[in-house]
Formats: sequence, structure tokens, C-alpha cells
Amino acid sequence: MNRLEQSIGGICFRSPLVIGSGPLSDRPDLIEQAAACGAGAVSIKQTAWSETRPGVRKMYARKGEYFFNPSDRRLKPEETARLIRQVKQGTDIPLFVNVLGNGREEETWAQLGEQMEEAGADGLELNFACPNPPAQRDAAGEKLRYGAALSQEPELAGDIIRAVVRRVKIPVWVKFSGDGTDTAALCRAAAAAGATGVTAFCSPRGAFPVDIERGGRPKLADLSVCSFGGINGPAIRPASNRVVAEAALAVPDLPIMGGGGISRAEHVVETMMYGASLTFLFTQVMLEGFAVLTRLNEQLEAFMDRHGYESVEEMRGLALRYLVPNSELDYRIGRPARVDPGKCRGCGSCGKIAFCRAIRMEGRTARVQPQLCESCGLCASLCPFDAIFFDGDRTDGNGGD
Ligand SMILES: Cc1cc2nc3c(=O)[nH]c(=O)nc-3n(C[C@H](O)[C@H](O)[C@H](O)COP(=O)(O)O)c2cc1C
Ligand code: SF4
Ligand code: SF4
Repeated sequence: MNRLEQSIGGICFRSPLVIGSGPLSDRPDLIEQAAACGAGAVSIKQTAWSETRPGVRKMYARKGEYFFNPSDRRLKPEETARLIRQVKQGTDIPLFVNVLGNGREEETWAQLGEQMEEAGADGLELNFACPNPPAQRDAAGEKLRYGAALSQEPELAGDIIRAVVRRVKIPVWVKFSGDGTDTAALCRAAAAAGATGVTAFCSPRGAFPVDIERGGRPKLADLSVCSFGGINGPAIRPASNRVVAEAALAVPDLPIMGGGGISRAEHVVETMMYGASLTFLFTQVMLEGFAVLTRLNEQLEAFMDRHGYESVEEMRGLALRYLVPNSELDYRIGRPARVDPGKCRGCGSCGKIAFCRAIRMEGRTARVQPQLCESCGLCASLCPFDAIFFDGDRTDGNGGD
């Protein structure tokens, strides 16, 4: 068996890398590329029960920082059904459909699920995540509780999940928002309602990039006005790890598809070590092309070789044993930083830290004055050559200050 392979909810994923729902999964050619480059599954673009506005796609990326989108095209159920049938003729990659019913109207979610199952979907991903609400109202005339808003109502979310689970045989995953969600409550509700797993986390809301040279107008193609929108990519990585860990701690047996800002194999491993079994990617593939999947799969295997992991499952949750409440941190000042002179290249980065009085440059080497060091760790994390360490952290240092 391929070491990256896992079976979850009756589906075999040949790699833990899944293409997150979005503009990378609404055309057959895109899904075929994902399959050819080694994706473990694809979550098809959000498919909505009803959509009153024309789908307009607006995106903005600042490489290495964030990906912003206030609006996107959504698929109609019949479009998605056609897409699934077409893709299934050429590839056997597992296809999830990211579905969006009408707010609290459970029946719309259940029927949408049934339609997608009938079309050949391998799984569903209920969308309690989309940050860009439409102006629609539900049948009762109330403003539609939409996407991300449902993440904040675990009881209602549970009712919707239960209604879908009762109507379909395929696995039902729940993708939730990072904005103001009580992760533990939502995950418990999802598990109690019979969800196969949760996908975390998606697109907290941010404000649009501003063109400061043009009086603050939105820096988005053709837009003279803009709403808040979802942010993704590097900006959400640490928050995503938090949410994955919260989910894993709340319901240890519930499979998690974790992601947000994944661009390197290290991020994939980190997400798993926080408790995920699968990981999803969007921004990095959007900016670099599907070949990133091949690279990450290879790097993941090389990592496992180096550390002797026989399966991805062995890495899952390893970081959780080090996670304690903030009140349980060791508040004593620890050992001072030390510089390995054999590794220091005199780049000066550590010497610029504004609040630190302990580091000074002596010629081309940094020196730490131990009595002035607060052991905060910032210099070690910034050093591009891994030259700063703390006694007990490693055995390879050859002395220092
Ligand atoms: C333009 C765009 C469209 C997206 N559409 C959807 C969607 O329809 N359904 C969904 O659940 N997530 C959607 N997402 C969120 C992504 O699937 C993914 O969760 C998010 O981008 C975080 O991953 P990343 O940091 O790797 O990009 C979209 C993201 C972007 C940027
Ligand atoms: S950041 Fe690292 S390499 Fe640069 S001066 Fe400091 S210790 Fe040396
Ligand atoms: S650990 Fe903190 S206080 Fe100590 S030298 Fe590094 S940056 Fe300065």
C-alpha cells in the first residue's frame, strides 16, 4: 500500500492532499489536472440550492501574504451533476461536492445532497463556511442564515447535518468558518449528527486591499466599490492550526480535513500533527499550478523516510500532547539564547530586534550577553541560518557565548 494512502468513511484517498472547494474545481479540465498531479480528492465548487445573483468572480492575491475574494461564481445543482458525470468518465479521483442549502431549511440541504449522490458524488461537504452572504431571504422571509453564519449555531447546524445524513449513503463532511465559531461545540454537534468528518477552517472575513495612490479605492479589477470578503493563504495558517487542534481535542475520533495557508510539505505535516488526517489546499495551487501537488507528495514521502514514519496516520495528533492552557505555561525566565559561531553568518537580523538589549555584533558574529537575555526566543526564530539555540534544545551546538 502507498504510504500516503488512507481510507476514511469508505473512501480511499491516495494522498492526504485535497483540492479545496473553489475556482479550481468547477471545470473538468481542472479536476483532471488535480487527479494527474496526485490529489487525493477534490471538493467541487460550492453548489447552491438557490442563487439569485449572477456569479461574479473577484480575487486579489498578495503573494506570501494573503488571498482575498469578496465574491465568486457558484454552481447550480444541474451544472455540478453534469460536471461529476463528465469527470467520472475519465478519472476515479474521489469527488466531494461542497453544498449550500437555503439557510435553516433542512429539506433543501437534504435534496441537494440526494441530487449530488445520484449524479455520482463520492461525498458531500456541507458549506457552513462561505463568508460572502447574498441578500436572499428564506421561505419565512427572514434574512438567509448563510454559510459561515451557520457555524455559529451548532444546534441548527446539527439539525441540518442530521437531515442530510439520514437521506444519503455517501459520507457527509462539514466545512466550517473560522470567524467567531465555537469549534468544540460545532464539532460535537457534527459528530452527534453523524457527520463523517469536519473540514477546518475557511476564510475569515477581511477588508479589501486599498489602492493608496488612488484615494483608497478598492484594488480589485473593475470594482469601484467592494464588500468585506474571505481571506485565505499564508495569513490564516496559525489560526487554522488552532482550529484544527481545537477540533481534534473536542472530538478525537472525528476525522479532520485541515488547511488554510498550506504551501509546503512542512505545513501538511504540521496540520496532521495538530490532528488532521487530510489536508486541503487552494491558494498555493491557484498561484503555482497543480504541479505543486506532485512536489508536496514527493516531499511528504521524503519527510516520512527521514523520520521513519510508515503511514500518515502515525503523524496525526503528535503535537497535541504539548498543547496546554496558557495558564499552565512555565512563566520563569529560562536559559539564555546562545549563538553557534560556526553557523552565524553575521547577517545582523537578530541584532535589529528593537526591544532586545542582549545581542550585539562583534565583527561578523552575533554575541548574546546572557544576563540581559529574557529568553523570549524571537532571535532564534528569526535567524535564517539556525545559529541561535537554547541549551537543552539541541545537541549539535559547538559552544557559543
Ligand atoms: C476564490 C475562492 C473561492 C472559494 N470558494 C469556496 C467555496 O465555494 N466553498 C468553500 O467551502 N470554500 C471556498 N473557498 C475556500 C477554499 O476552499 C479554502 O478553504 C481556503 O481558500 C483556505 O485554503 P488556502 O489558504 O489554501 O487558500 C474559496 C476560496 C477562494 C479564495
Ligand atoms: S541572525 Fe543568525 S546568522 Fe544573522 S547575525 Fe544573528 S545569529 Fe548570526
Ligand atoms: S532570546 Fe529574546 S531577549 Fe534573548 S537574545 Fe534573543 S531576542 Fe534577545
